[in-house]
Amino acid sequence: METDIGFDMLGEIIEIRNNIVILKKNENTLQNIVNLFVKIVDKDKIYIGEIVSYSKEIIEIKLSGEIINNNFIYGVSQKPSFDAVVTLLEEESLNILFGGNKYSPSTSLYLGKSALYKDYPIYVNINNLFANHLVVLGNTGSGKSCGMARVMQNLFYKQDAKAINSTFFIIDAYGEYKNAFSMIDYVNKEFCFKSYTTDLNANEEIIQIPLWLLSLDDICLLLEVNNKNQIPIVEKALKIINIFSRAEESVIKYKNSIIAKSLLDIFINGKTPAQIRDQIFSVLTRYNTKDLNLDSPIVQPGYTRPLKQCLMIDTTGKIRDTELVVKYLQSFVLEEMNLSLPDGSFIYTLKDLLYAFDFALIDEGVLNDDKVYSLANELRVRLASLIDSGNYKFFDFDKHFTKDDFYHMLTHNTNNNQKAQVINLNLNAVDDRFAKIIAKIYSKFLFDYAKSSSERGKNPVHIVLEEAHRYVQNDRDTEILGYNIFERIAKEGRKYAVLINLISQRPSELSQTVLSQCSNFLVFKISHPADIEYIKAMIPYVDDEMIEKIKNLQTGNCLTFGNAFLIPTITKIDLATPTPSSNSCDVSSCWF
Ligand SMILES: Nc1ncnc2c1ncn2[C@@H]1O[C@H](COP(=O)(O)OP(=O)(O)O)[C@@H](O)[C@H]1O
Ligand SMILES: [Mg+2]
Repeated sequence: METDIGFDMLGEIIEIRNNIVILKKNENTLQNIVNLFVKIVDKDKIYIGEIVSYSKEIIEIKLSGEIINNNFIYGVSQKPSFDAVVTLLEEESLNILFGGNKYSPSTSLYLGKSALYKDYPIYVNINNLFANHLVVLGNTGSGKSCGMARVMQNLFYKQDAKAINSTFFIIDAYGEYKNAFSMIDYVNKEFCFKSYTTDLNANEEIIQIPLWLLSLDDICLLLEVNNKNQIPIVEKALKIINIFSRAEESVIKYKNSIIAKSLLDIFINGKTPAQIRDQIFSVLTRYNTKDLNLDSPIVQPGYTRPLKQCLMIDTTGKIRDTELVVKYLQSFVLEEMNLSLPDGSFIYTLKDLLYAFDFALIDEGVLNDDKVYSLANELRVRLASLIDSGNYKFFDFDKHFTKDDFYHMLTHNTNNNQKAQVINLNLNAVDDRFAKIIAKIYSKFLFDYAKSSSERGKNPVHIVLEEAHRYVQNDRDTEILGYNIFERIAKEGRKYAVLINLISQRPSELSQTVLSQCSNFLVFKISHPADIEYIKAMIPYVDDEMIEKIKNLQTGNCLTFGNAFLIPTITKIDLATPTPSSNSCDVSSCWF
């Protein structure tokens, strides 16, 4: 529809009810004016409204806001009078609504075109859009991935300003985005795209997870801790790593102490002498040092025997040399072990972690407690199977680097050290559970890194989460760890300029806490009733008319609303060039 459909009065105001202005339609008023904006000029006030319905006789207009000093202000305080003049909105005012009047290279971004006012460009204020969390919703195939890619391309294709210092991490569930961004350096040599993959067979850098840079919480996520009682064991394992990483001579006394303490526990927790003996044998067979093992000499005035002989059960059914052995073990116990968590200053591997885990198991006395043992063993089994799986490769490094080094590596071109603006993490080749762990570990790393930066908020980082409902869920992290990283970023991220962009076709599966912290919405077509209901309940801006629009959107069109938008409007996003690699199969070209 052209915008020059006439600025004649549409009709005479005959009723004003709540926020609705009702006109008696003029005879010459055009058809097909639903959803168009109108201007209501009343003495010194200019109102903006939207035509919500019309019949042969009347037109219903919903009041949206006012124009004051060439700015659009959402909401109205007073109502227009019956004398007000109602016309369709002309170009100058459209410019105000769609951001064109305030265009400046470094603050404005072209988003797309108005679906209603043909080809009329829609601009957003970059801060309003990108300094807040953003959500992109819509059915599969409605245009979300293309839309997100295109919005980012619009930023990188901008001719009048270059977002050199932007940093987007894409959690790319299907490996779609490489296609859309690998060309950005052709547009401008200063741009750089980096990509990491989980596909071990691809000829590309693989995702890196440097264990020593992870926190206790990260390791809990990695081992899929599902019970709070498992956390102390993980914590102990990490503390033990911290000790074991030191030179062998200083470590051995700690090892001895841990083993001796666990053996003493076995004596104290006195089951039958035979059980005590068997358990001590089994611990010492598995865990021993050159000082403390089954053959350690136990010296007595007159003769010396190996430890294992002192565990023999005599004719009265007791371990004869209990006292002797206990005294011997006590000599290894260190009262002060001064344990602390690793500080990232030394490299360790999954195998080191497993080794420390075994010591943690005996140190925590788990061997004497079946319940705790099975909880702890669950984690040990997961760790062992991670080591045996191909995923081991993501943790395999031959040299140490710091958090600063790691962040720099991620955000710079490996060959020429140029800053990368888009860093793609392709998680397509790992299962959903592992993908979720990677998404959380990376998000936490980025958040913590931004938080610890001396230049707080100076280096904005955007985390684009494709298929966000797989990662950003109402899961048990808060119960177990005390927080969920996405909820934390949603609540605190803005302070540190860590922003999330969620993309999802299942809004009802997304964490409510996260969704409620998002301020901007690009909503493509949604049809599922559960999702519609959820959106209505969760997003304060959404009313029934918007829902009707959302249900009827065409591919690539989205209803845009929130902080960055003066007024909810249907935006037609240009097709991404190049597009993300679509995951739908071209059946006909396969078949024929
Ligand atoms: N803005 C657009 N303009 C034209 N066609 C589009 C647009 N966005 C998407 N499409 C078409 O729809 C298909 C699916 O889009 P996609 O972004 O992959 O959907 P989603 O991510 O929502 O599943 C694309 O392959 C493309 O053919
Ligand atoms: Mg998609």
